[in-house]
Amino acid sequence: MRIDILTLFPKMFEDFSSTGIFQRAVENKLVEFNIWNIRDYTHDKHHVVDDYPYGGGAGMVMKPEPIFEAVESIRQPDDNDKKVSIILTTPQGRLFSQTIAAELAEYDRLIIICGHYEGVDERVHRHLATDEISIGDYVLSGGEPAAMVITDAVTRLIPGVLGSDESAKDDSHSAGLLEYPQYTRPPLFKDWEVPEILLSGNHGEIARWRRRQAIIRTAERRPELLDKAELSAEEIKLVNEKGKKVSPEE
Ligand code: ADE
Repeated sequence: MRIDILTLFPKMFEDFSSTGIFQRAVENKLVEFNIWNIRDYTHDKHHVVDDYPYGGGAGMVMKPEPIFEAVESIRQPDDNDKKVSIILTTPQGRLFSQTIAAELAEYDRLIIICGHYEGVDERVHRHLATDEISIGDYVLSGGEPAAMVITDAVTRLIPGVLGSDESAKDDSHSAGLLEYPQYTRPPLFKDWEVPEILLSGNHGEIARWRRRQAIIRTAERRPELLDKAELSAEEIKLVNEKGKKVSPEE
């Protein structure tokens, strides 16, 4: 997959794209990252990227020309044969989720435009972006953190990026449930023991315990997720029995 990020703050992505799974993904040629400075696509002396809103009001609006020009300049001749998404990060977009991350992981190219100031000229929304994504119901001062969130969640779903396919399969949200509690050594830390079942070596029992914990945790913290989760009759009984007031590690 090729990911291009258009931003006014390219420096913000320096460490991000050269650490951890990204570095490995790039080295293994599973992902190609390119960061572009929108300011480089202006033609005036002061490299102006924003202007006052027509009709008045607070704040500035990002001008359309540099953004269109940046996208046009990074388009490839073979893009028409590929699955390409041009994403604008904006609080007005559809709400990002693991399902959307999985959907985007199927694309050949993602071009992510980071919005800024009070907004982006509506012609970018209407005539350039093919998707608009919000990472939550709050307003950031810029779309860069949102672009990183999207890039991170999508990249780790690309086959081969994570060490083993297992590690993404058990993630919170991948089965519509929050993830079960995880422990590592030591078995006793301060006064707190690792649940005995995890030390038992009985993989069947461990899998059952984890599933139960995932359901209990989801019922407690994010009960609305259970509406979409696939639960057995017995698990539904567990949710109804335990309701929302369950201690996490019974
Ligand atoms: N830009 C500002 N706020 C945002 C949000 N919540 N999601 C995506 N982009 C944004």
